[in-house]
Amino acid sequence: MAGEDYRQVSFDVWQRMAEGWDRERRWLWETSHAVSEWMVQALAPQPGHTILELASGIGETGFAAAAALGDQGRLICTDFAPNMVQAARAESQRLRLGNVEHRQLDAERMDLDNDSVDGVLCRWGYMLMAHPAAALRETRRVLRDGGGLVLSVWGSPKDNPWASLPGRALLECTGASPPDPTAPGIFAMADPERTRSLLAAAGFEVRRWENLELSWRFQDFDAYWRFLTQLAGAIALSIANLTDEKQRALRARVEEVVAPYRSNDAYEIPGLVQNTLAA
Ligand SMILES: C[S@@+](CC[C@H](N)C(=O)[O-])C[C@H]1O[C@@H](n2cnc3c(N)ncnc32)[C@H](O)[C@@H]1O
Repeated sequence: MAGEDYRQVSFDVWQRMAEGWDRERRWLWETSHAVSEWMVQALAPQPGHTILELASGIGETGFAAAAALGDQGRLICTDFAPNMVQAARAESQRLRLGNVEHRQLDAERMDLDNDSVDGVLCRWGYMLMAHPAAALRETRRVLRDGGGLVLSVWGSPKDNPWASLPGRALLECTGASPPDPTAPGIFAMADPERTRSLLAAAGFEVRRWENLELSWRFQDFDAYWRFLTQLAGAIALSIANLTDEKQRALRARVEEVVAPYRSNDAYEIPGLVQNTLAA
């Protein structure tokens, strides 16, 4: 799918996913807080800093950095999907975070001045963008000299069966050919060399790199299926586009392929992310 078409489809998907992400906020954080805490620790935000979070979704990673910025500092919490921005805004109000500004912003075309922020956070965002190279160039442009960028992207399909097993079952079900591994999607930056070269092309040097494991826990298969159909971005869209009969067949196939991760009724399905500090 060409850039503009992809961007529109992706925008619509994430608009639809916002409700599920907001509803499952606590569970998502329990699963993923170590990823965000690594990111904030690597960025080392200081009182008075302006930190930009890109593709923030419901905002949790940036919120973890907000306290360190103090009253004089500012977190600019941004996402291109207004429903995500709204969910993040409601939560920062609930938490009474006084130093957070919420904005709708496309990471590939930022409405921000050159050299205007001290640090950037982006968890599980760049690989979903139509042109991650453009988003990284924009990141470099708005970041002051000496400022850090901390990003998190998903590792290989083999290390992320929570997404690759249903992804493969979907291909079987639709008969579609496997996508180009660099096309926007969960695994588009799984190859460390690609991430390094995208960063280098935008003028960044890698300062720290760490792979972190996590585990998605679902109380039963229904909970996993709800996750796939209501939170899982493009996977959710592909499932929604199937007929009822194909959805039933897919559901049965996914239950079969994730069975090795079941104990009693619950599922623990592993994942691996690659966290990077670049400057
Ligand atoms: C997988 S979610 C991750 C949300 C959040 N960063 C987290 O880790 O919980 C991906 C997010 O990227 C956002 N996104 C995708 N493309 C974007 C773009 N070009 N500019 C800004 N946000 C984008 C989506 O709206 C969605 O909220």
